[in-house]
Amino acid sequence: MSLGILVSGASGTIGQSLIEEVGADSRFAILGTATSERFFEPDLNADAIIDFSHPRLLERTLDYALRHRLPLVTGTTGLPGLLDERLQEAARSIAICQAANFSIGLNLMLRLAAESARALGDDFDIEVLEMHHRRKIDSPSGTALALARSLACARGLVTHEALVHDRSRHRIPRSRGELGVGVLRGGDVAGEHTVYFLGEGERLELTHRATDRRIFARGALLAALRLQDQSPGLVEFSDLVLGQTAK
Ligand SMILES: NC(=O)c1ccc[n+]([C@@H]2O[C@H](COP(=O)([O-])OP(=O)(O)OC[C@H]3O[C@@H](n4cnc5c(N)ncnc54)[C@H](OP(=O)(O)O)[C@@H]3O)[C@@H](O)[C@H]2O)c1
Repeated sequence: MSLGILVSGASGTIGQSLIEEVGADSRFAILGTATSERFFEPDLNADAIIDFSHPRLLERTLDYALRHRLPLVTGTTGLPGLLDERLQEAARSIAICQAANFSIGLNLMLRLAAESARALGDDFDIEVLEMHHRRKIDSPSGTALALARSLACARGLVTHEALVHDRSRHRIPRSRGELGVGVLRGGDVAGEHTVYFLGEGERLELTHRATDRRIFARGALLAALRLQDQSPGLVEFSDLVLGQTAK
């Protein structure tokens, strides 16, 4: 029996990739779709919802998931704080896998970056640079913010105090506790993230390049499959695909 999927954001780039991937994989079947203009019909055969959309649509999708007790995989970024809180609250009733990035390589990079930050110590300054296609509306990317949170935690910094997005207004040298995040936008870039560890006389760079947006759709489908065995709660994508060791 195939896993019945509802796709929220079906008209979007990733939504379309999801539909294509499911068409080529007999383990899954699309049972319904939602966009800004139409919403799912109730479907009793659905097993999971996958959402790559917009905070407004995610809000409606979350209500639907709760009403029908369906596991939810969501990759929508740029969420207002209240919606983030609602997702956490909802995870008391349903299994939710929320990730800023559904690529396996990037999730490994999150772990490697935290490990490097701990190992190198604060003699090495940390900067993050991300680049995405010209249509992306949120900035910095959810992935860059996830990297920054993980790096700040590894260094014992408070993320919102350490983050620096704009140095143009302050004519002062960089301080040790800063964590700079830079943003580039243009063309059709699927997603690139680099973490720089900048020391005296040497630097380490960790880079992940997504060259095909289908990886996000494939990662989300894998998450939907693995969420079937999970109890209600917030489930880390990295735990589903990389295991719980070596964090
Ligand atoms: N976690 C990851 O791995 C990952 C990877 C890539 C992208 N993303 C994120 O996933 C989301 C979607 O990305 P995308 O590139 O597929 O975007 P997209 O091509 O712009 O598609 C957005 C989807 O959301 C719907 N939508 C847009 N504005 C809406 C509104 N105001 N109210 C209700 N629905 C609305 C659109 O419906 P209409 O067509 O009807 O407007 C469309 O179905 C973004 O937040 C992006 O950052 C996450």
